Amino acid sequence: MKLNIIYTGYKNYEHKLRVHIILISMLLVLAGIVLAVVPPPPANQNMGIYDTLFVDFNESKCRDCHASDVPDSHHNLVPTGEFGCTNCHPVLPNGSGITMIRDCLQCHNTTFNGMAIGKPHHESSGALSGHCKSCHGSVVDNYDDGHYIPTYAPSSMTPDTKFKVVNQTSGRKWGGCESCHEENLNASPFIAFNNKSHHRLGNLSGFINNDNTKCAMCHDFHNATYGSDSIRYCERCHGTNSLHNIQWDITNTASLSGYGHLGPNDCQGCHASYVAGSLAPGSDLIVPTIYSLSAKKVIEGQTTVMNISGDDFVTTVDGITRSSIIAITDGINNINLTPTNITHNGIIVTIPSLNDGLYGIYALKDGNMESNRKPLVSMPPVIINSAIINSTIVTITGSGFGTYDIAYRNWTNVTINNASRQVQITGWSDTLINVTSTDAVAGDTATVNSIYGSNSAPVT
Ligand code: HEC
Ligand code: HEC
Ligand code: HEC
Ligand code: HEC
Ligand code: HEC
Ligand code: HEC
Ligand code: HEC
Ligand code: HEC
Repeated sequence: MKLNIIYTGYKNYEHKLRVHIILISMLLVLAGIVLAVVPPPPANQNMGIYDTLFVDFNESKCRDCHASDVPDSHHNLVPTGEFGCTNCHPVLPNGSGITMIRDCLQCHNTTFNGMAIGKPHHESSGALSGHCKSCHGSVVDNYDDGHYIPTYAPSSMTPDTKFKVVNQTSGRKWGGCESCHEENLNASPFIAFNNKSHHRLGNLSGFINNDNTKCAMCHDFHNATYGSDSIRYCERCHGTNSLHNIQWDITNTASLSGYGHLGPNDCQGCHASYVAGSLAPGSDLIVPTIYSLSAKKVIEGQTTVMNISGDDFVTTVDGITRSSIIAITDGINNINLTPTNITHNGIIVTIPSLNDGLYGIYALKDGNMESNRKPLVSMPPVIINSAIINSTIVTITGSGFGTYDIAYRNWTNVTINNASRQVQITGWSDTLINVTSTDAVAGDTATVNSIYGSNSAPVT
């Protein structure tokens, strides 16, 4: 292909770029989000995390990933002894009730009820130690995993952090990340430019407390051999292999431009002067993506059949087929699970019983290619083994009862025969509840409403 190119010094580049986007009249419904499928710029938002800023992640965005698990991931913290109901649901001063705040951002990244609650994700140990892959998956590399970073001086083929040249006829930029990853202020939420998406990561980026030591994660010194915005530094996380393995829906888009890094004209996007003769080196694995899980929580002691929808779980490149398994991690230990069924777009897998807590779940392809990660919560079931009445005392044994606080009696309590019997709670532990009742009789139904859920059993 012949390109009509003029070289411009991008630092003087001021004219407003006009881009002619060819709209393909096709809409995709993915994970409930409607995305227009258009070639970049700006790049589509099918893979990885939506390229916007944390401030634009409102409650509903949080719930896209943290869905039905939200009460449980909080209530799982109660048995650790670190938090009681009143920490998160303070009793109103006049005793008329309790607070029930559901908007994540009224607590996370701020101070609530005297608790300074950190901004999530980028203050986690994974992020602070520079291991971005632990949540973002193999669309990025970890800086210390020994991946290949060229040591030769950047050449005309080496991508720029922004771009190298502009095609006079089309106005398209070529030769760097900005040729496709541009901002779009009309998108909702808006697509941020790369400096913004990387600079607004809380303390991680060093802009909050003017901590210049943090800049070195992504930039070299101004007077360094290749300057402060050398691509060599970006390559600590965006190595050749991870970049050459980003392609959305390769089965259907391999021959189209603009769906990732491997389409027929996409090479020039990064390598302005380069015309591809073959597949990019290392581009045989293709990063898988998870869009959604059929269940965001599992119950301790039970197996769960999970349907996982996504993309590129199985791919065939150059005649070689690579497949994924599912991995679950608590941050320390991993469990690998073989799918019972797998296609390009879906996996069915049986999740074994997990101890209660917060986990991450991801697809693991060919042993080392990780998808993005989704949160998964395991919570205890409410089990009643027996509810025995002896005169006016009903003794309920089982598990998953959590804790009791009279201020929260509208939610955590015991009722007998749909609350038609008189009930007074005299003792409550995770496995044993004592109740006195003047009118309960054998044959009634006792119901335990714990923070983990409800269950009923006959009184005997
Ligand atoms: C670490 C903070 C935290 C603690 C501790 C906590 N909660 Fe919650 N709780 C929440 C949050 C946050 C929600 C809102 C979840 C949502 O909207 O999805 C919630 C929701 C609830 C709900 C409503 C559930 C629903 O789905 O409508 C009840 C009832 C509740 N909590 C009771 C309790 C009780 C009782 C305790 C103490 C045993 C307790 N909580 C301890 C944070 C907490
Ligand atoms: C009432 C305050 C409050 C609200 C509202 C709240 N959280 Fe939390 N959340 C906490 C506290 C306190 C913790 C524990 C301390 C921490 O993580 O810094 C926590 C912890 C968590 C955890 C980690 C649980 C674990 O096992 O370590 C997740 C996940 C979470 N919150 C997600 C959310 C999401 C998503 C929302 C909104 C849908 C939300 N929270 C709303 C107070 C809140
Ligand atoms: C793109 C998916 C995604 C979105 C959106 C998301 N989270 Fe998370 N969140 C995760 C994953 C993945 C983890 C890590 C789970 C694991 O491996 O333990 C996590 C962990 C957390 C934790 C516990 C660890 C930590 O870093 O403190 C909190 C708290 C949390 N999220 C809150 C939120 C809040 C609040 C929002 C909205 C501002 C939000 N999340 C939006 C995916 C997401
Ligand atoms: C605990 C999980 C977690 C870890 C570890 C993590 N991230 Fe993120 N990251 C998220 C989530 C969830 C979002 C979206 C919500 C938000 O901004 O918090 C996000 C958003 C981003 C974005 C903006 C969105 C985009 O597509 O441009 C960038 C850039 C980013 N992270 C960079 C990093 C870097 C750099 C590291 C490692 C130093 C890192 N992250 C580690 C979970 C994580
Ligand atoms: C030829 C156009 C093009 C160029 C040039 C390009 N990208 Fe991409 N990139 C894409 C497309 C298209 C996707 C897939 C977007 C989607 O569907 O979510 C993508 C996805 C990504 C992703 C994963 C998802 C996301 O949006 O975060 C990363 C990381 C990424 N590119 C980094 C880079 C870096 C670093 C450079 C410069 C060295 C670069 N890209 C240059 C087109 C391009
Ligand atoms: C997580 C990675 C990351 C960190 C940390 C980071 N940057 Fe950046 N920075 C980027 C990216 C990506 C760009 C956009 C690429 C470019 O403009 O060359 C950028 C661009 C810039 C630019 C050029 C802006 C422009 O539009 O021309 C400056 C100046 C800059 N960063 C300064 C800093 C300073 C100062 C710090 C520390 C306080 C810092 N950066 C920390 C990733 C980062
Ligand atoms: C410390 C690791 C790290 C470094 C260094 C880094 N990035 Fe990123 N970059 C990320 C993560 C994480 C994402 C988000 C991937 C996702 O969407 O899940 C990202 C995403 C991107 C994207 C996709 C669009 C977007 O804004 O999300 C581009 C383009 C990009 N980076 C360019 C750069 C450039 C240019 C540099 C060097 C100036 C750089 N990055 C340095 C971790 C890094
Ligand atoms: C998202 C940006 C991006 C895209 C798109 C891309 N590459 Fe690359 N490629 C890189 C980077 C970064 C390097 C390292 C070059 C450097 O730093 O000098 C590289 C290196 C290479 C190399 C040299 C490998 C080596 O050993 O150093 C070849 C050959 C190559 N790419 C071919 C391709 C082909 C063919 C395509 C299109 C099918 C392609 N690339 C698309 C970013 C990209």
